[in-house]
Amino acid sequence: MSTSPEHTHFGEREVRLDEKQGLVDAVFHKVADRYDVMNDLMSFGLHRVWKDILVAKVRPSTTRRFAHLDVAGGTGDVAFRIAEAGGRDTNVTVADINADMLRVGAERAKKRRLDGKVSFVEANAEELPFGDGEFDAYTIAFGIRNVPRIEKALAEAYRVLRRGGHFLCLEFSHVDLPVLDRVYDAYSFTAIPAMGKAVAGDGAPYRYLVESIRKFPPAELFCDMIAAAGFDRVDCVKLSGGVVAIHSGWKL
Ligand SMILES: C[S@@+](CC[C@H](N)C(=O)[O-])C[C@H]1O[C@@H](n2cnc3c(N)ncnc32)[C@H](O)[C@@H]1O
Repeated sequence: MSTSPEHTHFGEREVRLDEKQGLVDAVFHKVADRYDVMNDLMSFGLHRVWKDILVAKVRPSTTRRFAHLDVAGGTGDVAFRIAEAGGRDTNVTVADINADMLRVGAERAKKRRLDGKVSFVEANAEELPFGDGEFDAYTIAFGIRNVPRIEKALAEAYRVLRRGGHFLCLEFSHVDLPVLDRVYDAYSFTAIPAMGKAVAGDGAPYRYLVESIRKFPPAELFCDMIAAAGFDRVDCVKLSGGVVAIHSGWKL
């Protein structure tokens, strides 16, 4: 990530840090209503498996009070899984900066009769409107690469978790298997924007999504960033040949 200080990437473009969030918000404003169907199409449904693996690692308590925070939670996919896996006293808060994504999420929660267990809050990952130590676990799925100041988001994750709390991040990573890397690149840069244009009427937001994956730090470097935020026992598991990775850390 070779950007000058106060600059970051928006896809392939170098932009000012304070400019990135507005550009990201415009992308998710455009895709909100087609977000879930596009996720299934682009990943051949694999995102469901990855999210199931993430939630299996959270292991929400089925007997005790369990307060979970899903940041950049969008339309609620991870939150619903956690609410269903946990017990009666599991409560999930979805925090997302984009009101359109949250609107779709709240409608889905109602349809699934999960609106009593899942609540939706408009919030920036860099400045969470929650008290210190409020949550047992924190997840962020396919969200952190969109946040301009990743270090601030990690510091906030650490702050809102209780001692013994678990941080988990599911994010696209870097495919490092020969042949698969070239197939994946060709698929990402040509098929995904084309699908976006055909299904959602605009290829540009999907080009950003693909480019932003390439600009995200490699798994090992991201582990170092998590540890620098104060987390212990940091580790990372790569899935599907490195297409995605789950990073984990504990506030001990
Ligand atoms: C690719 S979607 C992921 C949604 C969901 N977690 C999932 O896995 O289906 C990325 C989400 O990050 C949100 N986002 C971007 N920047 C954010 C920020 N600074 N704070 C909170 N959410 C943010 C977007 O609004 C969008 O809903």
